[in-house]
Amino acid sequence: MTKLKWGMIGGGEGSQIGPAHRLGAGLDGEFEFAAGALDHRPEAGRDYGQRLGLDAARAYGDWREMLDGEKNRADRVDLVTVATPNATHYEITKAYLEAGFHVLCEKPMTMTIEQGEDIVRTAEATGRICAVNYGYSGYSLVRHMKAMVARGDLGKIRLVKAEFAHGHHADAADADNPRVRWRYDPAQAGVSAQFADCGIHALHMASFVTGQEVTKLSADTVSCIQSRELEDDAMVNFRMDGGAVGRLWTSSIAIGRQHGLTLQVFGEKGGLRWAQEQPNQLYWMPLGERLQTIERGEAGLSPEADRTSRVTIGHAEGMPLAFANIYKDLAEAIRAEKQGREMDPAANLYPRAEDGLRSMAAVFAVAQSGKADGEWVDARPPMYR
Ligand code: NAI
Repeated sequence: MTKLKWGMIGGGEGSQIGPAHRLGAGLDGEFEFAAGALDHRPEAGRDYGQRLGLDAARAYGDWREMLDGEKNRADRVDLVTVATPNATHYEITKAYLEAGFHVLCEKPMTMTIEQGEDIVRTAEATGRICAVNYGYSGYSLVRHMKAMVARGDLGKIRLVKAEFAHGHHADAADADNPRVRWRYDPAQAGVSAQFADCGIHALHMASFVTGQEVTKLSADTVSCIQSRELEDDAMVNFRMDGGAVGRLWTSSIAIGRQHGLTLQVFGEKGGLRWAQEQPNQLYWMPLGERLQTIERGEAGLSPEADRTSRVTIGHAEGMPLAFANIYKDLAEAIRAEKQGREMDPAANLYPRAEDGLRSMAAVFAVAQSGKADGEWVDARPPMYR
């Protein structure tokens, strides 16, 4: 089997998320790392790319140079990951889609709803894949939660509760640290800080698992560190199009919490609870029975869970493997397209540009509602109303 060719923009030396992408893309032997424009400093990007094993000719200085260099090659990259800071995602993603590349864009996909709608339309018009890296939806047991909900194990879903609350920006003495300050500065971060950074992961998970989309929301946003213009904590109530009630808490001042991403789903016939810091166990409480622990890798799970599980039960799998599952889905989607066949339905779960757009609409709805003392506002993108 020929490997697919993969390119990366951003994710340079010392970046937070670059290594997880390289681990994820490389894990199953589906992708070969073939090109990159890894750093905002051209020389540093070229140098690091070559140290990671890229040919000198394909270790580019910036994303435009990479686009020019790749678009006419017979062996051009099949998939490009955009892992640069948020404000650059739109321009880069649009340019690569228009040049006929499949793209995996980091979240948030864009800075505005209009840009999000434009990316959705561009992906449709070009027929290219535009995936968005809600990588936590790649965990095997998250996929199993989705499968349990879809096959009716929980009955009708009544309530979903999502959290993404950490404590890494809790030190008031750190508020002026340049690595922290920009996140709460509207000129650089946009209309929302904590919700746009972390809350959208939790909200995407709520939609992914329940199979329902958010229709409206009411948000209580607050800057617990008062010098911050944008929120460092938000409590968001929402409603979903299948009737589920949603509750979401996101925070960056929750001292003692590390990553803090959890999801609970309650239906008429049972409840599920999963926490990203212990991702190999899923807690299942069928109505009237005892609490059960579902282990990743055990026999009899859904095809979606089996497909995304690699080592045997009892050995922990973690975050880069969840990212690897997004890449595994994308490899299957790209191969199916090349071979003119339907893709494996169990792989057809990677987050799409539509999810990135819905997140952006939710970000603006949270900002609007937060300013209006929690007024309920429409959270759907205009093009889906
Ligand atoms: P970072 O600041 O640690 O690294 C950014 C990297 O991009 C650096 O290597 C920088 O040199 C490079 N870069 C900046 N501008 C560039 C340009 N124009 N061309 C090429 N390279 C450029 O940022 P971090 O934390 O890695 O975040 C990157 C993106 O990933 C953000 O959009 C962030 O929201 C997202 N992210 C997603 C996560 C997830 O779970 N899906 C987790 C963490 C970050």
